[in-house]
Amino acid sequence: RQLHSHTRARAHHKDIQEVIFTADAIKERIKVMGRTIAEDFEEKEPLIIGTLNGAFVFMADLVRSIEPLPTGLTMDFLRASSYTGSTTTGQDAVSLGMVSKTSVRGRHILLVEDIIDTGKTLQELCGRLRAQGAASVAVIALLDKAARRTVDLTPDYRGFECPDEFVVGYGLDFNELYRSLPYVGVLKPECYL
Ligand code: XMP
Ligand code: MG
Repeated sequence: RQLHSHTRARAHHKDIQEVIFTADAIKERIKVMGRTIAEDFEEKEPLIIGTLNGAFVFMADLVRSIEPLPTGLTMDFLRASSYTGSTTTGQDAVSLGMVSKTSVRGRHILLVEDIIDTGKTLQELCGRLRAQGAASVAVIALLDKAARRTVDLTPDYRGFECPDEFVVGYGLDFNELYRSLPYVGVLKPECYL
């Protein structure tokens, strides 16, 4: 029985209405992006920064696809809390806490995001990293809800354009659930309620 289980299509989770990006499609796309990143950052000793928690799955797969390994490549994570209020008060609405306290000064940064929606979070983060003396800041997002953008921000690299629907899986959550699903899918409406 177990011998043949791998040959069967993997049934998706009961709360998922539709799988938009399969595990295989994501894998193939990341393989291509990894090679591009390797080429573009070959001589830049890049600092790859993953935004927690959502980007952790993408980050793990992406960094292993960056071949050949650029000299001096290091990585860290930061926790970015996105805008939840209506408008900002002029205070910082995004916190920037680097997990391992890596210095960004003089570094060529590749910021890894799971998904870009309005773009506000990333715009703020990029600004902060530049203000802290980064030599350059590039953005890679697995998913891009380009239709939802309210600020002038285009990712330097993106996996897929994402329809304007709430998606989960491959690191993305709804109330911290579904992050571990190996694909990206749309939640059934009843799961929001
Ligand atoms: P902004 O609007 O600043 O926000 O670009 C980006 C953040 O919004 C969250 N987000 C989602 N999370 N499924 C999710 O699980 C989605 O469809 C979705 N759309 C936006 C996410 O936290 C991202 O970092
Ligand atoms: Mg979230």
